[in-house]
Amino acid sequence: MLARYDLAKAAKTLSLAFGPRRNGRAAPSGAQRMDKAGSFGLTGPQDADRAALSGAQGNDQALRPLSMWRYAEVLPGDEPVTLSEGMTPILIADRLGAKLGLRALYVKDEGLNPTGSFKARGLSAAVTRARALGAKALATPTAGNAGGALAAYAAKAGIPAVIVMPAGTPHANVQECMAFGADVRKLDGLISDCGKYVAEHKEREGWFEVTTLKEPYRIEGKKTMGYELWEQFGGALPDVIIYPTGGGVGLVGMCKAFDEMQEMGWIGGARPRMVSVQAAGCAPIVRAFEAGAKASEFFENAATLASGLRVPKAIGDFIILNDIATTHGTAIAATDEEMFAAGRELARLEGIFAAPEGAATVVAAQKLAARGWIKPEESVVLFNTGTGYKYSEAWDQALK
Ligand SMILES: Cc1ncc(COP(=O)(O)O)c(C=O)c1O
Repeated sequence: MLARYDLAKAAKTLSLAFGPRRNGRAAPSGAQRMDKAGSFGLTGPQDADRAALSGAQGNDQALRPLSMWRYAEVLPGDEPVTLSEGMTPILIADRLGAKLGLRALYVKDEGLNPTGSFKARGLSAAVTRARALGAKALATPTAGNAGGALAAYAAKAGIPAVIVMPAGTPHANVQECMAFGADVRKLDGLISDCGKYVAEHKEREGWFEVTTLKEPYRIEGKKTMGYELWEQFGGALPDVIIYPTGGGVGLVGMCKAFDEMQEMGWIGGARPRMVSVQAAGCAPIVRAFEAGAKASEFFENAATLASGLRVPKAIGDFIILNDIATTHGTAIAATDEEMFAAGRELARLEGIFAAPEGAATVVAAQKLAARGWIKPEESVVLFNTGTGYKYSEAWDQALK
């Protein structure tokens, strides 16, 4: 159901554009390649650059959009609803790395996406498909950022959006949804209650539901993070990926991308070890992983300031747990206090103002390096999934 594209056909076009090249360990120079590609975005590629690139690499990489739609062959084939999401930078985090004892530490900064989080990718793909299918109104439950992204892409597509969120959602998320003209409904409860609300109302109200993992294209958009990693690391993947997990679609999406890339012959069977980091106040995946279970239990009294991680039971928990196990990864929790302390380190040492969810990845890296689970020379990518600017109430508290 997920893949509407023809992977065999996509493989031919994409491999002309992107690979296969080498299949080695991630090299730090990979991050600089991205800087170069990024600078084309600002100035526009010069003819000489184009000729040099296409001559040297025999591909059309430099001519593709600097957004996730550069991988159009493995995305819905409709006219994209886009705000130029994706192709976020991979930043070398050497000052933080020195502190943690990691020599090849990187941050992929998803906070630079439209609406300030990686949710833009999934919603660009989902709204693209929904518009092509003639959807009249779009609805989603949200922890906050997905709602902001849906509201923005729905506005761009000219389709009304209904956003159902817990009353405790950060103010910036409510504000942006209202500015984008969405119908915002706040409920006393968690995202699971918002999910029930959408499911119960959609038939009667004529909504097209774009809930994570119920709608198949959000994951397709998010998987582009995996394609970008490969391209930005010069045709290789890092040893370890640390991802904050709520619904788990970011992590699952990347694993899907790696499977597709293997099918297309770009990579072999080796995978980055996937680390799922959750909030100590809502850690169903960590509990299940530690218990060796195949699915999670509902996490009672879930509470954390990292609103994107306040997901007491993910719909795709069994997929997340399977991906962690098959990549020889792990799951680990961070308290809110640890997240904000680590977020301050990230800001002071690297100039990155992260969402608490993104800051949680720093906590995980620190703990796993201290335990020797990550070796000093291994390449590690932390995903800062959102910008700190949208969490001003929580940051105000943390900075007091
Ligand atoms: C900033 C941020 N990070 C991480 C997540 C969790 O993402 P996923 O649901 O893909 O696990 C969310 C979800 O709302 C989020 O907003």
